[in-house]
Amino acid sequence: MLVLGIETTCDETAAAVVRDGEEILSSVIASQALVHEKYGGVFPEVAARLHVDAISVVIQKAMLEAGIQVEDIDLIAVAKGPGLVGAILIGLSAAKSLSIAWEKPFIGVNHIEAHLYGAMMGNPRIFPALGVIVSGGHTLLLKMEKVNSYEILGRTIDDAIGEAFDKVAVILGLSYPGGPLVEKLAEGGDVKRFPFRGGKTTSPLDFSFSGLKTNVLYTSQKVALEDEKKNLAASFQDAALKDVLDKSLKAINTFNCRAVYIGGGVSNNQVLRRMFKNHLPLPFFFPQKGLSLDNAAMIAGLGAAIYQEKPDGLDLFPILDLYLK
Ligand code: KG4
Ligand code: ZN
Repeated sequence: MLVLGIETTCDETAAAVVRDGEEILSSVIASQALVHEKYGGVFPEVAARLHVDAISVVIQKAMLEAGIQVEDIDLIAVAKGPGLVGAILIGLSAAKSLSIAWEKPFIGVNHIEAHLYGAMMGNPRIFPALGVIVSGGHTLLLKMEKVNSYEILGRTIDDAIGEAFDKVAVILGLSYPGGPLVEKLAEGGDVKRFPFRGGKTTSPLDFSFSGLKTNVLYTSQKVALEDEKKNLAASFQDAALKDVLDKSLKAINTFNCRAVYIGGGVSNNQVLRRMFKNHLPLPFFFPQKGLSLDNAAMIAGLGAAIYQEKPDGLDLFPILDLYLK
């Protein structure tokens, strides 16, 4: 089964061709990050306009690189949300139009769920499993019975972890997206210099990163910032990632968990990967190369995996909330 995947939920215009939900024939990503950099975050209206400019070229490039023709495509899968509504609508409209013009079936998939599927692509499938989503928009712990069958165990009650990295980056004078820059700055910093912690929550598997971020801000105003930047980055990163590790360890004791899949942009962080390697008593899987950050291969893959069960009609609307519908 050959699937054309399309992703435009945030600031990447992406298209990919995937065979049988697993084999990536092409994955093209046009990032808008350089444009949003000057705003310190994604500017929604600008994102939508740039998707309009890029979408056709990106889809054509994905098909060209995969060496396929329109006739070869069996399904068009698109990220239906959650994300920026104006941005989502561009990908959704493109996917629906191509579905009509090319007479191909169409499915909308959940972007967050696709991040988890990205951690499964090319890796063994072991269930029941814990799903850990650490992205710019979401922080979630999920019990997974199988692909497309989930129960939410915990979520952030304020900022997402990637969002906290991005905001701390601004405090430290770094540009957007800040996560990778904070990771780089933290190298050689002292994780024990500042006693930061993830925020307390009523439910033991929920997350809170807003207080941690504010703590970094207030601390940064009290110290000699230039001398302490590395230490602030390292202490913040350590606190945020340890919180994810600790809650993941707690969550795997709440059910018959046999493996852990970690997905989303922050799963690219090498310190997080090392922490899981050193502490997790179960098989665990991070996304392979090119599958951590927003991409369309995970959208095509997930589309293939759930298409048989429930294809979508063209009356599909964008979804804007985090629920895994
Ligand atoms: O999954 P993603 O591409 O977009 C969403 O669906 O939100 O995640 C983007 C987020 C950004 O907040 C970015 O700063 C963060 O992932 N990120 C990182 C790293 N690489 C990306 N955070 C920490 N360390 C990294 N190496
Ligand atoms: Zn994402």
